[in-house]
Amino acid sequence: MGKELKKAKLVIDRDFTISKVDERIFGSFIEHLGRAVYEGIYQPESKFADENGLRKDVIDLINEIKVPIIRYPGGNFVSGFKWEDSVGPKEERPRRLELAWNVVETNQFGLNEFMEFCKKVDTKPMMAVNLGTRDIMDAKNLVEYCNIKSGTYYSDLRIKHGVKDPHNIKLWCLGNEMDGPWQIGHRTAQEYGLIAARAGHIMKLVDPSIECVACGSSSLGMPTFGEWEATVLKESYDTTDYLSLHQYYGNHENDTPNFLASSVAMDQFISQVVSICDYVKAVKKSKKSINLSFDEWNVWYHSNEQDKKLEKWVEHPHQLEDIYNFEDLLLVGSMIITLLRHADRVKIACLAQLVNVIAPIMTSDTGSFRQTIFYPYMHASIYGRGEVLNTIVKVDTYESKHGDAPYVDSVVTTDEENETVTIFAVNKNLDDDYEMSCDLRQYAGYKIVEHIMCTNDDLKAVNSEEKPDTVKPVNYNGSKIEDGILTSVLPSKSWNVIRLAK
Ligand code: AHR
Repeated sequence: MGKELKKAKLVIDRDFTISKVDERIFGSFIEHLGRAVYEGIYQPESKFADENGLRKDVIDLINEIKVPIIRYPGGNFVSGFKWEDSVGPKEERPRRLELAWNVVETNQFGLNEFMEFCKKVDTKPMMAVNLGTRDIMDAKNLVEYCNIKSGTYYSDLRIKHGVKDPHNIKLWCLGNEMDGPWQIGHRTAQEYGLIAARAGHIMKLVDPSIECVACGSSSLGMPTFGEWEATVLKESYDTTDYLSLHQYYGNHENDTPNFLASSVAMDQFISQVVSICDYVKAVKKSKKSINLSFDEWNVWYHSNEQDKKLEKWVEHPHQLEDIYNFEDLLLVGSMIITLLRHADRVKIACLAQLVNVIAPIMTSDTGSFRQTIFYPYMHASIYGRGEVLNTIVKVDTYESKHGDAPYVDSVVTTDEENETVTIFAVNKNLDDDYEMSCDLRQYAGYKIVEHIMCTNDDLKAVNSEEKPDTVKPVNYNGSKIEDGILTSVLPSKSWNVIRLAK
């Protein structure tokens, strides 16, 4: 007799929705860092380049994911960046020492090129202003350059640069990780809160329709976490729309159960930032709620050692080029599930980053390929839109350094208009399969479209240009509906997407 399957149960109710999913939760990030821009999305000398020097193979892969927003141009980069360097005739753009990443920035790709790229991948920009080394007037000038039609100095400058219509950029980051001592122009919470308030104010005077994201903590582990959020929001509440969160995880100790439990820490991080936002709301007696922008999240650690050996002041070196393995795919799946479970407050999130730099897409001169983490990100973006149901997961847990971790992470999304239901689930158990059940009698007539599943015996398996399909999802015959009850087998260490439709 075979071993009895472990059981997990999902409890949902069609009327108990958490929130509509803001599609911007499936955003990503491209920074002037390493080969993200140069050799990533832009490589005029490449055989893959289009007439603007953009890599068509990369555009195709990004379009597979359907990325709704892309944060740009940084990251740490933005705190030393003069946006004016990146516009106008390319031959006149300065080469600069780029002090955040110790490289040379040629400025051959800039704001207007990025906006062209956004059109090609059908995405919206999430533009960051430099509040590390620049003034609020520079931020204001950038909004004027981007969003005013014509008839003023900066809008006419844009037109002189060959861009007739305004870019109409609606979402703006007020600096980057200003709590981090590594940040160029790092500030105290009070200092940053004040400049964020003033920048948001003047930027909204130029274009009242924009939304502003203030910097929260650059990780849950920052010594100033908590106080930072409260102070920044107390200073900038009226002009801030979202507060940012950043978090990366790594498996430095090669301890997979603890690594996979990192989503528990992410969940706590989000809940705590929500509490702080609501505390300031109460103190301010405000009617407005501040929502969250988790605008940097991913696994990042594989490249740490090799990056210590990098030569300084070269152009776009191989930097932060993590090669992701199968267990990273599982954690990225759990992190997306965590973001969706908080869709009532997390309205924006950016997988950091998109190409070559801690990214789902990698390029070389001869081609490009999908890293392991490409798949959960793509599945969530394509199938996770609609509404999130309050999903209770009844399953056993294990002890981890982040607290008790469920063996199965899951969330259910529905799209009532298109009559679809999607269940995302990660089985983190390294030994056992689970049989997960879900009462779907409220969804009479819904049938299983497919059960996409990804597992691998080797937690460290990776994809490469030579072997791009080592880790790849398959169609799996693991789900059935009987008398309105769905049962799905979730193999040990697996990512699952169970799609139903009427
Ligand atoms: O995404 C890489 C870097 O991580 C970003 O530049 C910075 O914001 C964060 O520390």
